[in-house]
Amino acid sequence: AVAKVRLLQELKTIEVPVTNRAMVLGGGVAGLNAALDLANMGFKVYLVERNVSVGGHVAQLGKTFPILDCSKCPFLSRCNQTNLGFSCIYPRMFDVANHPNIELLTYSEVKQVEGVIGSYKVKVVRKPRFVEEANCISCGDCNEKCPVEVPSEFEAGLSTRKAIYMPFPLVMPLMYTIDRENCIHFTEDGCRICEKVCEYDAINYEQKPEEITFEVGIVIVATGFDIYEPYDLKEYGYGSYKNVITGLQLERLMCVAGPTSGKLLRPSDGRESRRIVFIQCVGSRDVNKYEYCSGFCCMLAIKNAVTLKEREKDVKINILYKDMRTNFKGYEELYQTARDLGIEFTRVELTNKKIVEDPETKNLTVYAETEHGDPVEVEADLVVLATAAIPNKGSDEVARIMNITQGTDGFFMESHPKLKPIDTPMAGVFLAGTCQGPKDIPYSVTQGSGTAARAATILSKPMWEIEPIVAMVYPDKCRNIKAKCGICEQRCPYGAIIAPEGEAAQVMTAMCHGCGTCVADCPSDAITQMHFTDAQILAQIRAALEENPEGKIIGFLCNWCSYAGSDLAGTSRFEYPPTIRAIRVMCSGRVDRDFVLEAFRLGAGMVLVGACHLPYDCHYISGNLHMKNRMAALAGMFEKLGLSPERFRVEYVSAAEGVKFAELIKEMTKQMEGLGKEKIEAENTKLHPILDRMLSRKGI
Ligand code: FES
Repeated sequence: AVAKVRLLQELKTIEVPVTNRAMVLGGGVAGLNAALDLANMGFKVYLVERNVSVGGHVAQLGKTFPILDCSKCPFLSRCNQTNLGFSCIYPRMFDVANHPNIELLTYSEVKQVEGVIGSYKVKVVRKPRFVEEANCISCGDCNEKCPVEVPSEFEAGLSTRKAIYMPFPLVMPLMYTIDRENCIHFTEDGCRICEKVCEYDAINYEQKPEEITFEVGIVIVATGFDIYEPYDLKEYGYGSYKNVITGLQLERLMCVAGPTSGKLLRPSDGRESRRIVFIQCVGSRDVNKYEYCSGFCCMLAIKNAVTLKEREKDVKINILYKDMRTNFKGYEELYQTARDLGIEFTRVELTNKKIVEDPETKNLTVYAETEHGDPVEVEADLVVLATAAIPNKGSDEVARIMNITQGTDGFFMESHPKLKPIDTPMAGVFLAGTCQGPKDIPYSVTQGSGTAARAATILSKPMWEIEPIVAMVYPDKCRNIKAKCGICEQRCPYGAIIAPEGEAAQVMTAMCHGCGTCVADCPSDAITQMHFTDAQILAQIRAALEENPEGKIIGFLCNWCSYAGSDLAGTSRFEYPPTIRAIRVMCSGRVDRDFVLEAFRLGAGMVLVGACHLPYDCHYISGNLHMKNRMAALAGMFEKLGLSPERFRVEYVSAAEGVKFAELIKEMTKQMEGLGKEKIEAENTKLHPILDRMLSRKGI
């Protein structure tokens, strides 16, 4: 520590100005709550929604779990006013549309976001509706006369809509939109009936896309999810058998404002469905489709089953499931209610399911297998598939524009699953709701409010302070000027470095999180990390190895996991031998191969690199992964040079693993003693000239 202190330089906190406005991307339940919370705090909010109305999937749902008794809802009277059937989101939609601090940009898409925390410059394109908002009174005359009928997306394809349409009666903003793809005026240059019947001059076929630009301090991404439609899983017959529907289609059938006015009529013949079978995990938890659990489908099935059973006692309902996951407040009780009502639950395997239709009656038979291999056969009038929740189809584009990462499942990645679950690696960009992964309504609402609170910590200040432990380029050393290198640019998980061809790399300080991975991987040592410079860390290594080096373990430990784990071992009084000299780095990604070489050149007994667990625990997203690759190459080299493999280790120790850390040092010390001082010295003597040459060439 003293060796490092001698080389410390004064660092000043970096300050960036903050624009106290916010953008919320996505008008589903999470986005609406985020926007309302921020607006109520007094911040101006731009709410950008791709569709013609806000509301998202929740607007398609009737009753929502776990409280099915709407009489207890504080928003009941406002729902009743709509007289359109209940949806828990209507009051929120209304509040957003009428809030003085919220600028609602529906039917709009974000095309560009540039800048850093505190000042993101946003470009949005508003698509033409071909209807003037100021003139349209949503009387519906145009809709009535429009001759075009296409499947309604809002009704999940169970009914049709016109080419000039409102997807549902309570859209926000309350106005009609012409669907250009299907309007005869645009496809065949004819018709224009809507223009003729509109008494308010609201139709304007000449409308053009409008570009809107503004600046915000933060962005909340709440772009939601899509429902998987299992046309490709032929065993279920979805798309071929009309009476096989998805959970979302069932929602629309059950809704009083839906295509059958809430009656559970079979799509094939309009007959009432008396025997209903729910099949869970269709596409979810499937290694060939979507490996993850979609989270809310068990509750959705139970909620719909209970609602149907409470409506009509003699309806027969069977839920075929693999595991029933009802693990939040009130969910277990609803599951018990379902059992008490006589709803059958049959546990079956995830695989080997099949539906067969009787071609005459259109009745269905579901075949499955229990976990013991016993056959299951259930007759049904209607089969409801609980299909997977999948990333929204615009996710890739949003990820590109916002520079946020996606997991292997395609959902957006949070900055850290435990400690920063709603932050993204981009400072000032937050995630709310199902764009981050499948979740239910209460969880989405909570995340919406959570992101608003996180955003307010930034928006409430005129200037945002950034820790000065950032990367800094020495332009004269950067090889990118002469030959395209760009390694630093590739390594940075935050998009904080740009390396334009023919120019030295540049760090956008406000976006740098200070992991140091770029520094460790720069082939010409042209980047340094403030407060963790090469000179400071090398001084620590040298000081630690001044005496009895072959009896010491030099440990490079990342601040957030391994170093914290070693601290826990200390504060918990877990004993371990005093052989380790711990050198703290912010992330294991900062551990330069030169540090390891220098430690062995100076005769260290062992070297340990301690990191957060792979793959997701690194607090800088991918630092531990880059370290792992770098150290694997180094280990290969040491093996060829005859170093005993136990002398160089990479270990993953979390902040909670004080015991593991203490045991690790005990084990390494024992191994070091087992090798013996003479063997270590002999290996070092052989290694020294080679390492000396390697490091001297670099001026170390
Ligand atoms: Fe621990 Fe990156 S922060 S390895």
